[in-house]
Amino acid sequence: MTDITPLRDFIRAMTRLADEGATESRWLTEGAALLRQLIANDTWLPEECAQPGPRYRQYLLHCDPMERFCVVSFVWGPGQKTPVHNHTVWGLVGMLRGEEISTEVKPGVPMAFGQVDHLRPGEVVAVSPNLTDIHVVENALPDRASISIHVYGGNIGAIARSVFDPVTGAQKRFVSGYDNAAVPNLWDRSKEMRAA
Ligand SMILES: [Fe+2]
Repeated sequence: MTDITPLRDFIRAMTRLADEGATESRWLTEGAALLRQLIANDTWLPEECAQPGPRYRQYLLHCDPMERFCVVSFVWGPGQKTPVHNHTVWGLVGMLRGEEISTEVKPGVPMAFGQVDHLRPGEVVAVSPNLTDIHVVENALPDRASISIHVYGGNIGAIARSVFDPVTGAQKRFVSGYDNAAVPNLWDRSKEMRAA
């Protein structure tokens, strides 16, 4: 049985940052520190948001009502990989289980592959149009699923962004959507209230 409290606390803290009108640099430092805390334990992710599928899955855990940020669980089955894509907003990627590889891709014809980052549990990296915004991500493990928790500076599943053909550099419009129709229930606090 998972206990969703760490996720609720994280979302509260991120909402406070949003209410303070946090700059990108605060999101990428203070927000990253909060995400590091969240992924330091692996007891809270609801099972239904940890299921791999025939292609990598993107489960929405929470979207801020003003779409200032969202929190997503990415589940990578063995051998699964994204297309080359951008984000257009800042993002934080925190590794919860397993291992993933993120490879930077630079514009051009053909596109050039840059820095390769191996992400292991507990690690957080950032993406942003002001840093590296184009990459390809894959599961580093051949035999089991890997899971990372992402935070973006918007409702990422509904943002028009791009996928790229690395050979020709051609750019195509892309709206990712989400794989779940319902978000986890953060608000059943009856257990703690009954125990009080
Ligand atoms: Fe990405």
